[in-house]
Amino acid sequence: MPTILKAIAADITTLAIDAIVNAANGSLQGGGGVDGAIHRAAGPDLLAECLTLGGCATGDARLTRGYRLPARYVIHTVGPVWHGGTAGEPDLLAACYRRSLAVAAAAGVRSLAFPSISTGIYGYPIAAAAAIAVDTVRVALPRHPGIREVVFCCYSPADLAVYAALLA
Ligand code: AR6
Repeated sequence: MPTILKAIAADITTLAIDAIVNAANGSLQGGGGVDGAIHRAAGPDLLAECLTLGGCATGDARLTRGYRLPARYVIHTVGPVWHGGTAGEPDLLAACYRRSLAVAAAAGVRSLAFPSISTGIYGYPIAAAAAIAVDTVRVALPRHPGIREVVFCCYSPADLAVYAALLA
């Protein structure tokens, strides 16, 4: 059975799925955007676990439990800040997707959802970022046969249209 890849428009904190990915910052101490929403929904135990991790480098990923979220795990990854595209942003963004999948697979995750990493506060243009997201996941998935479903969880109809076109 091929792995299901799909795009939806939803609040990622509501998804009943094995793991959701957080677009965090290197401190792993919370922030705005989807990071803030995940910490509010998960409750203070999430921050307490994050504080034990000692931060996360850009392009890397860390696993925590999901606490009050419907998702069992949160995979915190740190996307690049957009500086115009010549500061290594594409490679760092691709690394976020690859590392998140590897961390998920190591935890036995079968289904996970990604937000559109770096395309909010960090300013990465949506069309370029979505192409990297979809291409990187497609290329990496054969290495992780236990992952059966990957959801690109968009927050706006406009973003959903971009992802849906790439997946069609
Ligand atoms: N569910 C799904 N997607 C969401 C949600 C949600 N509840 N809320 C926002 N988005 P951003 P970044 C979308 O800014 O650009 C934080 O302060 C949003 O519309 O959350 O990687 C961190 O601590 C956009 O499409 O993350 C970092 O400091 C996408 O999630 C910094 O922001 C990513 O937007 C990371 O910036």
